[in-house]
Amino acid sequence: MNPHSEHPINIAIDGPAGAGKSTVARLVANALQYVYVDTGAMYRAVTAIALERGISPDDEEAIGRLAEELDIVLLPGDEGQRVLADGSDVTSKLRSLEVNRNVSRVAAYEAVRKKMADLQRRMALAKGVVMDGRDIGTNVLPDAELKIFLTATPRERALRRYREMGEQPGVTLEQLEREIAERDRMDRERELAPLLQAPDARFVDSTGRPIEQIVDEIVEWGRAASRTISAGEK
Ligand code: CDP
Repeated sequence: MNPHSEHPINIAIDGPAGAGKSTVARLVANALQYVYVDTGAMYRAVTAIALERGISPDDEEAIGRLAEELDIVLLPGDEGQRVLADGSDVTSKLRSLEVNRNVSRVAAYEAVRKKMADLQRRMALAKGVVMDGRDIGTNVLPDAELKIFLTATPRERALRRYREMGEQPGVTLEQLEREIAERDRMDRERELAPLLQAPDARFVDSTGRPIEQIVDEIVEWGRAASRTISAGEK
């Protein structure tokens, strides 16, 4: 899996929406030649398929059944991760406003979380994975050798999302800020595996900092953790 490091580790990157997790995680994975796993995309895929099939995000039982039956496959690639749901590529549907508005409700359901966490743990078994999400360091991979809690001020996070989305009719910065705040509130307050900094996670505030600097920092920590493990085994 990883020809340049004898002792690949797992890296968990958690934090609120728009903190830069996916960009940072992808670049860290590239630098270390690890596999990047975007777990948010899995919750988004369940949400997108539910909306497509006319299943209400309020219907916990139906959503739970859907999550259990749905075959979700992540395909890592140079152009970014692609997601297959029951064999069809749903990647382009994952970041719609409709999915944004409903994903945190869907992600709070027990059957959904159980299915996704099982899949995620399986993906990390061979090590050499950079996984980003909300509960990776606390719940999915509590033994990850390096844990990062990445955040930025709410304004900066909304601004990043706004720039990322480009001009879209009817979308204002203020509206985005409200939606992100609401999603964060739901993710933090939910009963199961809420968004939380693991006690052994390093706190990184990306406000006003260039992304490359944060990536370099995490890559260095990753290399150091890997060296420590190698030294311990000698
Ligand atoms: O990219 P962004 O930060 O906006 O969100 P995402 O990482 O794609 O995650 C979308 C939603 O999925 C989050 O708001 C959470 O409700 C849920 N999620 C989760 O519950 N657990 C994870 N490990 C990852 C995402």
